[in-house]
Amino acid sequence: MAALSTPAELAPVLEAGGVELSRLMHRTESRLAEVAEGHGANLAGHAAGTLAAGGKRLRPLLVFLCAAQGPPTLPAAVAVELLHMATLVHDDVLDRAELRRGRPTVFSEGGREAATATGDLLFSRAFAELTATGSADAVRVLSMASEGLVRGELMQRADAWSADVTPERYLERCRLKTATLFEAACRMGALLGGEPAAAEALGRFGERIGLAFQLLDDVLDVSGPPERTGKPRGADLVDGTVTLPLIIARTRDPELAELDLRQAAIGPARAAAVCDHIATSGALGEVRAEAFHQVAEAKAALTGLELPDSRRRALNLVADGVVERHA
Ligand code: IPE
Ligand code: IPE
Ligand code: MG
Ligand code: MG
Repeated sequence: MAALSTPAELAPVLEAGGVELSRLMHRTESRLAEVAEGHGANLAGHAAGTLAAGGKRLRPLLVFLCAAQGPPTLPAAVAVELLHMATLVHDDVLDRAELRRGRPTVFSEGGREAATATGDLLFSRAFAELTATGSADAVRVLSMASEGLVRGELMQRADAWSADVTPERYLERCRLKTATLFEAACRMGALLGGEPAAAEALGRFGERIGLAFQLLDDVLDVSGPPERTGKPRGADLVDGTVTLPLIIARTRDPELAELDLRQAAIGPARAAAVCDHIATSGALGEVRAEAFHQVAEAKAALTGLELPDSRRRALNLVADGVVERHA
């Protein structure tokens, strides 16, 4: 049986979900390995490497937790993780990132061409996997998320190094590039797992924890360290991504407010110093508070739903885990 990649922090979620959830996560892992390895040595090396490097498998977990019956949702769980991996591989091209899941990115190891092709392969395999569900709704949901992701990533490039990104525009970008996939995972779970009437509320739950997740990712980019996050510290500054920690810190610290953002990006040492500066401004606490607010909204979306206690407990644990994490 394929080993699970879910980190220790998610152990209480797996416990709350019981034997059936662990069994489904194992089946997801086996199928992911099968899909990643079946495409010729070159592509398979990159795709399987990205898979084997780990990852929290949060999105498949959400598919299962939002479903009353797990097995019909299995292809959707696999598809959502494949789509996620595709976007990570492409995102690392756009962000010129060197490190992902604690290993060199496909971009840094194989170059832009290999990373583009690997991402394309994973994208196409994600949608091929979904055909096993026989559900046009599921295809529609995942394809809408995919569109949101692309729009979010383009918005991020368009705003690179801009001193005028407002918190509202930042949150909209996070909704598009990250929350839409969390929402899709939850919606597909509800739709395919026998609870279509709950899709709206569960989708909202997913969207809110997705926002909280990206807020925390942006905090971790400033606070690091790479040994825990598996990604370089200050990567957002280096690639020009203006995030809420920086936006808030600039309103508090005149020196940061005057900083030419392109200069902040010169070399990792300079980026680390600016990260320290952002951290001492107290901005990270404010961003965490915003993430907690989103988590509270996510939990509120569940209140009107009739869910078995164990599933409600597991969903609430995921919501808490999104903000109480270091990787
Ligand atoms: C990273 O997502 C991309 C973001 C949306 C911030 P994850 O942090 O879920 O990545 P893995 O799958 O655990 O590596
Ligand atoms: C999320 O943003 C990227 C995707 C939605 C693919 P980031 O660029 O912050 O993600 P990381 O930090 O590279 O994982
Ligand atoms: Mg990135
Ligand atoms: Mg990031």
